[in-house]
Amino acid sequence: MDQTHVDGDLELDQTLFTEEQITTRLREIAREIEKDYDGRDLLLVGVLKGAVMVMADLARSLDRHVEMDWMAVSSYGSGTKSSGVVRILKDLDTDLNGRHVLIVEDIIDTGLTLSWLITNLKSRGPASVEIATLLRKPEAQQMDVAVKYVGFDIPNAFVVGYGLDFNEKYRNLRCIGTLAPHIYS
Ligand code: IMP
Repeated sequence: MDQTHVDGDLELDQTLFTEEQITTRLREIAREIEKDYDGRDLLLVGVLKGAVMVMADLARSLDRHVEMDWMAVSSYGSGTKSSGVVRILKDLDTDLNGRHVLIVEDIIDTGLTLSWLITNLKSRGPASVEIATLLRKPEAQQMDVAVKYVGFDIPNAFVVGYGLDFNEKYRNLRCIGTLAPHIYS
């Protein structure tokens, strides 16, 4: 669905990112990844459910073989604030020993989820662990953890679409938009 199907739920003035802008940026990142991982096997680890769209489009933009696996972790309740509590809901099927791992994220907000995830994955003996995220909020820029690939740095607002939800809605919105405060307050 597109903006016309969620009329009134998004901040009026703008779409934050159109489908075209997202596609273009992911293609640019794909070229960087191809260069950086030239001659090395690569395992993309998608974080469910938000990263489904990013993973699908990033993986298909890559002109090389990759493997894909998925993890589901939970750090959010049903609201818009990070709880800081991370639980594994679904673990990887792949043995990470000696693998080059690229975590594919939809958004990094506080970075709590990611810090936890990196520590967890690094404890499994991979050759390397790096991060690619489509969106990054300001607080995440102060994180200790370096994020290798960032699609867009965005302001501190709650955004939905392209995999990102509010109470499980809006994931299938093609663009990314800022949720209007009357929806969540
Ligand atoms: P963090 O631990 O605060 O970095 O939160 C990361 C997770 O929170 C993301 O993977 C999303 O699932 C969710 N999240 C953070 N900000 C947003 C947002 O603006 N819209 C939708 N989900 C968000």
